[in-house]
Amino acid sequence: MLDVITYNTSTIHFGPIEKSVFQDVLAKEFSGSKKVIITDEQIHDIWIEDLITNFEELSNAEIIQIPTGEVHKTLDICVQIWSALSEYEIGRGDLIINFGGGVITDLGGFVASLFKRGMKFINIPTTLLAQVDASIGGKTGVDLGPYKNQIGVFADAAHVFIDEKYIESLSENQIKSGFAEMLKHGLIADADYWARLKDFDPKDVTDRLLLIRHSVGLKRDVVERDHQESGLRKILNFGHTIGHGIEGYFLEQNKPLLHGYAVATGMKAEAFISKELGMLSESELQDIVETIDRIYPAPMLTPNDYKPIVQLMHNDKKNKGGVIQFSLLEGVGNCVFDQEVNDKLILEALKFIS
Ligand SMILES: NC(=O)c1ccc[n+]([C@@H]2O[C@H](COP(=O)([O-])OP(=O)(O)OC[C@H]3O[C@@H](n4cnc5c(N)ncnc54)[C@H](O)[C@@H]3O)[C@@H](O)[C@H]2O)c1
Repeated sequence: MLDVITYNTSTIHFGPIEKSVFQDVLAKEFSGSKKVIITDEQIHDIWIEDLITNFEELSNAEIIQIPTGEVHKTLDICVQIWSALSEYEIGRGDLIINFGGGVITDLGGFVASLFKRGMKFINIPTTLLAQVDASIGGKTGVDLGPYKNQIGVFADAAHVFIDEKYIESLSENQIKSGFAEMLKHGLIADADYWARLKDFDPKDVTDRLLLIRHSVGLKRDVVERDHQESGLRKILNFGHTIGHGIEGYFLEQNKPLLHGYAVATGMKAEAFISKELGMLSESELQDIVETIDRIYPAPMLTPNDYKPIVQLMHNDKKNKGGVIQFSLLEGVGNCVFDQEVNDKLILEALKFIS
């Protein structure tokens, strides 16, 4: 299946990259431009040869590889990359290709959009998580210590190429991590999709590209209506308010959790809050909890962890006037944003998931 979705100035291509217009895009839209590939060490080892040998236009590309993992999604790494780009005499009309998971597409997009006041970039996401979520929608950025995505800008990739062949080399844990964002798409916007996914084995490859495309379509529909997150787009943060608190807390302790695992736990906690506020039925909560528990191990939280996690959440980007704002479920398939929740209920939610 070769297929595209467009929004704003971005085109998302689905299907085998060799059969896509990637080569034409490089040769025509970026003819005469220098090409720089930003990737991480692990993807470099597995996939860079394949990419470079398949596309003649990349034979002279500069390759910048960074160490693997969320701990390297930092400004320090950006500064190193900007220095390298300067050494390679990269200009604003040249092209950056982000080849990797969500860490690379977040960081690489941020690097590109600030260098020389902004360069064009292409994303080739190689994790399920980046394919269904991180590589599209224009959020780019880096962490600041334990604060997730604290520094960033909105900037869309000119093109995104989604090829499921990359998923073949992903570990089961990484596949499950990406699957969490797909579950989120169902919970916030499409009850039928949730019903289909909840009994699904994340490793099942049947219809995988169709499911990825469905998730991308759901995200596109939201992002197109509210690109800069002034309202509706906040629903995509369901599970992320508590999820980011937990992810940041474990990151700070040098015990990073996979993003999707933190989000899955966050969704359980935020579904609990939705139920406590009368927005979700007991049976819907049970359904969500059973589904998540079937796939994801619960993080080992003790009561001593709760307060520092809530403290981290007080720096969440959605907050207003010091009060933590949530996106919560009003029934499965429907999400509402700007919901104030007090610390007492958040602490109860953390107890619920422990
Ligand atoms: N911008 C957004 O809208 C958005 C949305 C969701 C998540 N995110 C961000 O995405 C990040 C998480 O993304 P991620 O889970 O892709 O993390 P990641 O980029 O760290 O990739 C996970 C691991 O998989 C490895 N890997 C990547 N592709 C591989 C492949 N094809 N085969 C084998 N190994 C491979 C990487 O080297 C890494 O070790 C977080 O920083 C999160 O904040 C951003």
